[in-house]
Amino acid sequence: MEKRVFVFDTTLRDGEQAPGFSMTTEEKLQLAQQLARLGVDVIEAGFAAASAGDFEAIKLISERVKGPVICSLSRALERDIEIAAEALKTAERKRIHTFIATSEIHMKYKLKMDPPQVLERIKRAVSFARNFTDDVEFSCEDATRSEREFLYRAIETAISAGATVINIPDTVGYAVPEEFGQLIKDIKDNVPDIDRVVLSVHCHDDLGLATANSLTAIKYGARQIECTINGIGERAGNAALEEVVMALKVRKDHFGDLKTSVNTRELYKTSRLLCRITGSFVQPNKAVVGDNAFAHESGIHQHGVLKHRITYEIMNPEEVGFPMSRIVLGKHSGRHALRKRLEDLGFRFTEEDINRIFEKFKALADKKKEVYDEDLEALIYQEFMKIEDQEPIKIEHFQVQSGDSIVPTATVKLLYKGEEKTATSTGNGPVDATVKAIQKALGINPKFLDYSIKALTPNTDAQAEARVVLEFGGVKASGRGVDTDVIRASVNAFVDALNRAIVRKEYILQRSEIREEGTV
Ligand code: KIV
Ligand code: ZN
Repeated sequence: MEKRVFVFDTTLRDGEQAPGFSMTTEEKLQLAQQLARLGVDVIEAGFAAASAGDFEAIKLISERVKGPVICSLSRALERDIEIAAEALKTAERKRIHTFIATSEIHMKYKLKMDPPQVLERIKRAVSFARNFTDDVEFSCEDATRSEREFLYRAIETAISAGATVINIPDTVGYAVPEEFGQLIKDIKDNVPDIDRVVLSVHCHDDLGLATANSLTAIKYGARQIECTINGIGERAGNAALEEVVMALKVRKDHFGDLKTSVNTRELYKTSRLLCRITGSFVQPNKAVVGDNAFAHESGIHQHGVLKHRITYEIMNPEEVGFPMSRIVLGKHSGRHALRKRLEDLGFRFTEEDINRIFEKFKALADKKKEVYDEDLEALIYQEFMKIEDQEPIKIEHFQVQSGDSIVPTATVKLLYKGEEKTATSTGNGPVDATVKAIQKALGINPKFLDYSIKALTPNTDAQAEARVVLEFGGVKASGRGVDTDVIRASVNAFVDALNRAIVRKEYILQRSEIREEGTV
């Protein structure tokens, strides 16, 4: 059996469609470039027909990212497939990934189609997609709740029509490992010509079993894993790429010598880049990439690790690129050192952009003695990854009065889609007063789900990083702001989250027609 497991990354598609994880085109490009350095085999860059934003991102990634196969999702519809093909036109290597649901529940209630109609759609869609590329993937959505014999027939139809990859999604995260492994084995035993295609799995984490299910599927013969960085994705997310890849590497004794093309030393960087972009950080105890993944707190553990690392560590932190020491840059550091550090952090910029960053870096280094990785990441975020022209709210000016003997009061002047608005408000503290003044100016009352502020570095000249998670207009969004002034950092985080909620809401409205036809 094939000794290679293909890694199909869907962070930019399944991951991005989860609440609070929307990304701009520029952010998607940065992440796709890092995924290419990570060495994934396939980047699912979006769902071209879903929105103009998705189309643009796939097009840009196709033009600029070399190495991995670039893929677009599409429903089993000719128009969707044409749009996907158009977005992928310039890709060095391209894949069209088309899907339709095969479970009773989905066919009856969502598609309102009977099984023969679904088979007909599969045949038409897959053969149509083959007009644009030789690399066509077909997914049987909700495969784990599909009636077995019909599932076999759907797969057989897709293979006869020219599919080269067959994907078995556990769309609702319902499967358990043994049962899912058996399903893969049964498909291999019962579908004619299944050995002509790569058998893939796509597991959701609703019961916390996505990684376990994916790995069991590999044991039973699956050879492509669909996964996301940090396990982000619809609802509880998808199988986490870093977990699947490291499990295969660390437990060769169990899985056999199955290789992936992933350069595991890029894992931590990729995870951090995604966190920075989305403003959503992984929990400290997250496997492989969490802050505590290699921290030993108990005295007995520390003693053991100092004597010999393998007493309590099953993988070497360096193997996943976990930073063990940090280089600090200062005002005497040059462009070369800056570029090198940025590359180590997972960023690649043009000469022109480096010059722009260098100027900002020098200004910051003048204010702060030492510039840490966190400062650099924050600077890049501010400079390149804001939602740019898509910022409906822009703060023009704010002023706050606070002290131990006055009621904190803030006045704000802002622009909402170009229209000027001002308001004054009091609050429990200066941050509260400013946030309330912004809300008053806009006449809105978003629900705060989380607010935190922390110093990025250990000194009092540190930049403060504020994070806000809120719900507005039925949309959840997170934002971050970094500044040496804690109030400005908080205001920026609040406005960033609000802007993302507004932009995302507009994006969802554009997409509503697509979502009516089902989970994607
Ligand atoms: O979860 C799912 O079924 C999907 C498919 C479109 C592959 O994301
Ligand atoms: Zn999915």
